[in-house]
Amino acid sequence: MKSLIIYCSVYRKNTEKIARLFAEKCGCELTNIKNFDKAGVNDYDLIGFGSGVYRENLSPELFRLVENLDLKDKNVFVFSTSGVGMKFYNNKLIRLLESKGAIIKGSFACKGSFDASEFTNKKIFNIFGKLSQGHPNSKDFENAERFIKSIL
Ligand SMILES: Cc1cc2nc3c(=O)[nH]c(=O)nc-3n(C[C@H](O)[C@H](O)[C@H](O)COP(=O)(O)O)c2cc1C
Repeated sequence: MKSLIIYCSVYRKNTEKIARLFAEKCGCELTNIKNFDKAGVNDYDLIGFGSGVYRENLSPELFRLVENLDLKDKNVFVFSTSGVGMKFYNNKLIRLLESKGAIIKGSFACKGSFDASEFTNKKIFNIFGKLSQGHPNSKDFENAERFIKSIL
């Protein structure tokens, strides 16, 4: 099975670490969204889309990219890293993928470290910021490995 992972990871490369783990474990190709070239996408049997979460959303660039792809009957999965590490952030992109006729194989999320003071003065985020330190960690990588193996 020929697989491709496309990721956006602009803050601390947290998402890139997970993308690299996936690529290593499934022997698939990896491309940063910055270098993405649409040509040849049809050759892949499985495409993974990953992003950090920035102000409650995955990268708008990733949404634009998905909008411009023909994904009818294509196997896809979505992954993200965020301060809180919750999968619900993936749902909006999953809905877009579904609307394009893609087959959703799975959704993965884990925490990615951040420093709240760099982008908000809301106190609650300081707590999440502290809890996120050191992520993604070895446990996150284990979970990521289990996830990718479960969908191959
Ligand atoms: C501008 C900005 C906004 C963020 N907003 C959120 C957010 O709304 N929810 C959250 O859980 N994490 C948020 N984070 C934390 C990031 O999602 C987290 O650090 C993620 O791992 C970044 O991925 P990256 O290093 O691959 O870019 C934010 C980080 C930045 C820099």
